[in-house]
Formats: sequence, structure tokens, C-alpha cells
Amino acid sequence: MNQILVALDVDTAGAAHALADQLRGHVYGFKIGSRLFTSHGPSIVDTLVARGDRVFLDLKFHDIPNTVASAIGAATRLGVWMVNVHASGGHAMMKAARDAADNEAAQRSQARPLVIAVTMLTSLSEETMGEIGVAGALADQVGRLATLAQSAGLDGVVASPQEIALIRSRCGPSFAIVTPGIRSASDDKGDQRRTLSARDALAAGASYLVVGRPIIAAADPRAAAERIAAECR
Ligand code: C5P
Repeated sequence: MNQILVALDVDTAGAAHALADQLRGHVYGFKIGSRLFTSHGPSIVDTLVARGDRVFLDLKFHDIPNTVASAIGAATRLGVWMVNVHASGGHAMMKAARDAADNEAAQRSQARPLVIAVTMLTSLSEETMGEIGVAGALADQVGRLATLAQSAGLDGVVASPQEIALIRSRCGPSFAIVTPGIRSASDDKGDQRRTLSARDALAAGASYLVVGRPIIAAADPRAAAERIAAECR
């Protein structure tokens, strides 16, 4: 199987299920973000999990440790395969997230979800870091937060194509790196500025690739997924 996680960035449960039904067996899993989750809630996750899909619940939790731990517990009960938090919530918050996943999964005798962190949103620049009082180079902050996430027991991070090599060198071979911004040379980049092809992202050290519009907006999503999967081989 390939390493493709398809971002189900659509507004309706019907559209999400139609995509999942076309792509099941052709991609590694599906990412559900705040757009679909806010519209349809946990039932969309329930349905995909019941159909055997791996679900990456991309809700980027960022709150006090007790609240994040409870949310991660709830995600574990839903049976998601991967879930994420913001690394800027700090070591205690990330450790609480990991512990909650361990405890909830153990109580239910099920596999725990991978818990990963967002370091710096790729929409932030050094200028916008300054707005929120974070000085220094963006890459240094990404590296610092990735190391912090690893020390808190998290399984990996979300990283832009430009950050993969830095994180791989700091955090070693078994730390998961989940990379959006995947585009082939012929794809419309849309609002993504820093992109890599699937092949180049994997060569740089990515573990999983998050792909949205190149698949979900294609005339034939399954054929588009197969083309990207061929690049992964
Ligand atoms: O359509 P596209 O392939 O650009 O979709 C990428 C997906 O990855 C979207 O769901 C987007 O929200 C998400 N993402 C991203 N950049 C990040 C984190 C998540 O593009 N840094």
C-alpha cells in the first residue's frame, strides 16, 4: 500500500462518503479536518472507521492539558488511526495527549492512535511569528517544536516539504513526518506555495503524504490517486 492520506475537504457527508467509496483500497487513509467535522461531527468518523478506513482526525487540539487529554480520549474511543495537537501547547499538554491515548486504548484493548503535532502552521512566516512574539528563524522554531514533541512521547509531526529533511535529521528515522503540499509538475498549486512531488517528498524523508485537491478535485479521483501512488513506488 502507498502512503497517501486523502484530505476529505468537502462540506457534505455525502460527498465525503462518495470520495471514500471511490478511493478505498487505493490510498492509505483519509484525513478529516475541522471543515467536515464541524458540519457533521463524529458520525462521519464512525462510518468510515466501521468501513475499515484509517482516519487521521486533523483537529489540531490546543488547550490546557486536561482538556486536550479528554479530547484525545474521545478521539481514541472513535477509533481514529491518527490525531494531532499543536506543539506550541507545550510539553505537559503533549504528554497528557499521549498518556490519554495510551490509557483509553488500553482500557478498550484496542490499538492506540498515533498522536502527532503541528509545529508551525505553514501559513505562518517569520513576519507573522513576530506578530505573536516569537523571535528568530522559522526553521529553528520548527526544529525546536519537533524535538519537544518527540521528547513528550509524540509519534511525529506535520511538516511542510521544506521542513522534512531538518526534522528527519533531528528526530531520527522512526519519527513520523506527515507532509501536505504535494503537487506534481502538471498540477495547479492553488494556494500552496511550497510544494514537492510525492516522489520527492518521500525521498526527502516523509512518512505519509496528505493530498487534497489533486485527488478530490480531479475529474477521476481514483485515476489521480493511482497516478500519485505510482510515483510513490
Ligand atoms: O488540497 P491540498 O492538497 O492543498 O490539501 C492539503 C491538506 O493539508 C488540506 O486539508 C490542508 O488544510 C492541510 N494542511 C496543509 N498545510 C498544513 C497543514 C495541513 O495544507 N501545514
